[in-house]
Amino acid sequence: MCGIVAYVGSSDRTKSVLCESLGRLEYRGYDSSGICFVENGRSRVIRSEGKLENLFTKLKDCEVTSSLGIAHTRWATHGDPSERNAHPQVSGPISVVHNGIVENYPELKKELIAAGYEFRSDTDTEVISHLIRDFTEKGNSLLESTRKTFEKIEGSYAVAVMSDKEPGKIIATRRFSPLIIARSGSECFLASDIPAILPYTREFIFLEDNDFVVLDENGVSITDAAGGDVRRDPTVVDWDPSVTEKSGYRHYMLKEIFEQPSAIFDTLRGKFTADMRKVVFEDLDPSLLRNTQRIIIAACGTSYHASLIGKYMIEEVAGVNTQVELASEFRHRNPVVGPDTLFIAVSQSGETADTSEALLKAKELGMNSIGITNVVLSKISRESDCVIATKAGPEIGVASTKSFTTQVMAFYLLSVYLAISRKAVDSKRARQLIADAISVSKLQQEALGLDEHLRELSRDFYGYRNFIYLGRGINYPVALEGALKLKEVSYIHAEGYAAGEMKHGPIALIDRNMPVVFIAPEEDVYYKKLLGNFQEVKARGGRIIFITSDRELRLPDERDRKIVIPKSSYLVSPMVSVIPVQFMAYHVANILGTDVDQPRNLAKVVTVE
Ligand code: F6R
Repeated sequence: MCGIVAYVGSSDRTKSVLCESLGRLEYRGYDSSGICFVENGRSRVIRSEGKLENLFTKLKDCEVTSSLGIAHTRWATHGDPSERNAHPQVSGPISVVHNGIVENYPELKKELIAAGYEFRSDTDTEVISHLIRDFTEKGNSLLESTRKTFEKIEGSYAVAVMSDKEPGKIIATRRFSPLIIARSGSECFLASDIPAILPYTREFIFLEDNDFVVLDENGVSITDAAGGDVRRDPTVVDWDPSVTEKSGYRHYMLKEIFEQPSAIFDTLRGKFTADMRKVVFEDLDPSLLRNTQRIIIAACGTSYHASLIGKYMIEEVAGVNTQVELASEFRHRNPVVGPDTLFIAVSQSGETADTSEALLKAKELGMNSIGITNVVLSKISRESDCVIATKAGPEIGVASTKSFTTQVMAFYLLSVYLAISRKAVDSKRARQLIADAISVSKLQQEALGLDEHLRELSRDFYGYRNFIYLGRGINYPVALEGALKLKEVSYIHAEGYAAGEMKHGPIALIDRNMPVVFIAPEEDVYYKKLLGNFQEVKARGGRIIFITSDRELRLPDERDRKIVIPKSSYLVSPMVSVIPVQFMAYHVANILGTDVDQPRNLAKVVTVE
């Protein structure tokens, strides 16, 4: 939600570094944007409504001589997406870019209006700029004023601040919203996320809550809320900068669908003993799992769907009672847990507010925790007792694809690890389970060959306004995920159901205008039952897309379509069966001309409740 960047370095690079970095952060929000430089000792703020390209057009002929600047791409929370609500929000000499929410802004706004400040936007952020200005006018330095301001602010924030009065520096701080800094030679960078500044360095400092940073020509210095010096060691990130490029693909979403076999391969790397008999989690404390009798998993969106598959895997393979919760619900209720209940927070970004709050709740309740995340040193990875890292690499497309399959693989590995350590499987079965994990990359590679088939099929189906997706067992969450993908990127209404639920209501919807997508690998233990559901839909005139590994199956009605995926073992089948539904969402959206990588109203990282 909103992306911020800052740069201090060489004047001939300021504009390009800020614009390029902003471009790599656009997936965090894209309804308006802005930038601030200092020119001849005065701030110059340029803002624009809409996509970043509108800002870049304004900046095209703008010569920048400033050696530092801050910039922002917005996902609106307070105030509509418009130029006046875009950041930087300015008060006199102060310019502020902000990611997060000021929860007590109505009270602060009232106080500031009473003190004579005039508000020009509907944003919560404007209170920050006025407060900092107020403190500087009372004789405090920019750093001190920023500190004093955030003593008054409740909520979440990552901010960067500039002032005409101290033109050579940028001040930044954070609480509950991510912020990283980096140095490379005489240049300093600050950003909400690693991909933004990945082309410039591999060493990043992940700031902690209430760190206050000064970036200037001398480099970077960090202090705490009381002004004491803070030392934070850099972390080396091994992502290849090319992962943030489209590399010839039309969209990141398509590129990321195609990256799944290598993402799975990377997620598996180093996860087995040399004799391939056991799963190894170097960072996992075995004592955490030894006494676990029950597992609660919490997540949102696509990560929630991956978690539902995780439940099937853990119960089926390791026999441990597992429950999956929507993080936004779990965090607000009073769950009954025992000392033997383990909590797992699942999040691609590791920053989703509902999931990280659910994790805090679990900790309050005394539960041990594991974080499954894709971003090193993200909030969830720092706050969990142990981390299982998915190795999807940066996911830029707003619709999750490769992060889904790597999360499912993380659950698969965890279930095999639990099963082996609890002696729930014998060594022969363990070796087979491990061999099945290794087979996934290759099977996915084969399934990627369906791209052209799905492109052609989408031309036949894009005109429908509603879709139903059905699956059973471990492929039921794939039906949910297929429907979510289609909704997100094509804005077509779609619902996923457990196929057995059809007769309890949704079947009333079936007619000629309701295509039904079945996720039905032949190896699915419910395959015969799915064929029964197929007949129920046919009897009511529905049109079917049948995703299956059953090559022999004949569909008598030529209006129906069969998609043949490679056969896999039942437990790993979701990592293969999801590929056609990802392709279908992508191609339908493309035909309809929606903005596939940045669908309307969405943001990649949801740091608000
Ligand atoms: C769907 C999608 C979202 C995210 C959800 C959780 O394509 O991307 O539903 O899955 O916002 O995000 P993370 O996994 O970062 O917690």
